[in-house]
Amino acid sequence: MSKVTVVGAGNVGATVANCVAQKDIVNEVVLLDIKEGVSEGKALDMWETAPINYYGTRITGVTNNYEATKDSDVVVITSGVPRKPGMSREDLIGINAGIVKSVTESVVKYSPNAKIIIVSNPLDAMCYCAYVTAKLPASHVFGMAGVLDVARYKAFIATELNVNPKDINALLLGGHGDSMVPMPRFTSVGGIPVTELIPEARLNEIIERTKVGGGEIVKLLGTSAWYAPGAAAAAMVEAIITDAKRIMPVCAMLNGEYGHKDLYLGVPVVLGKGGVEKVVDLKLNADEQKQLDASASAVKATVENLKAMNL
Ligand code: NAI
Ligand code: 2OP
Repeated sequence: MSKVTVVGAGNVGATVANCVAQKDIVNEVVLLDIKEGVSEGKALDMWETAPINYYGTRITGVTNNYEATKDSDVVVITSGVPRKPGMSREDLIGINAGIVKSVTESVVKYSPNAKIIIVSNPLDAMCYCAYVTAKLPASHVFGMAGVLDVARYKAFIATELNVNPKDINALLLGGHGDSMVPMPRFTSVGGIPVTELIPEARLNEIIERTKVGGGEIVKLLGTSAWYAPGAAAAAMVEAIITDAKRIMPVCAMLNGEYGHKDLYLGVPVVLGKGGVEKVVDLKLNADEQKQLDASASAVKATVENLKAMNL
């Protein structure tokens, strides 16, 4: 029996649950929210797609009932407020830190062996908050951001070159903020370095668009994205459940890798049934390291704000 819980049945959480169910890789998905009836309604609606889309994963919705989440293999935490136009992800810390802390406590009580994927923003600091709260190994608590951010980068490159996104391989490092670091040196299209295909000035524009890709959607919709974030978290769930050993950019605890310690930051990891099984520690050039350090500084400042909250 394999089981996945998604906490928060809003835009992102419902999409994660739906994407995981459609993959037909687990027996059960539990969707939990504090708003009465919302999880139940969305879960029922999703379950009614099973006969159409041919999957067998049972989806259950519950209102704040953690007993129903007992013995989950993976828990995805999406509960919290999203940003509105003009807000940064960091502005959400005041509300979301308390939510992530209390949700993590309840999750761990019923699923002490779960791998916990944080989605709530500000992502890197919320991973730290969940890690300190859960008192689990850092390999069991990590965050989704890089899979989304690198997908945006790949989507923009696919549009630019009018090629299939499947053929794009790329890496993106750093925090889930506007100082994230897309890596052209580790980007290829059908095996061809992207720098051979897109002129430097144009590639830099694509990189800058990627960094504010979340904000671009917030401006259009008045709230943040959910289709790509939901698909990204579900891809991480799949890598863990199927023990796929995928290399993905994940917000993981660093213990000296990339020159940083006791810090959650987006880096390539091997993702499998053990959670973050390995951090892939690359040798960066001076410019790349400088950009990553700047991103790390931004994350550290948010973590300091979190610590000052004394939750
Ligand atoms: P939403 O407002 O649609 O859904 C959030 C849900 O959380 C609501 O249904 C709310 O009732 C629920 N909730 C609040 N407190 C709760 C609690 N204590 N227990 C259980 N449920 C609770 O928001 P959306 O768009 O789904 O975004 C959720 C979070 O994910 C936001 O913080 C957003 O910034 C973040 N996000 C992160 C991304 C990433 O790449 N890491 C990408 C997109 C969103
Ligand atoms: C995003 O990048 C706001 O973190 C959210 O879409």
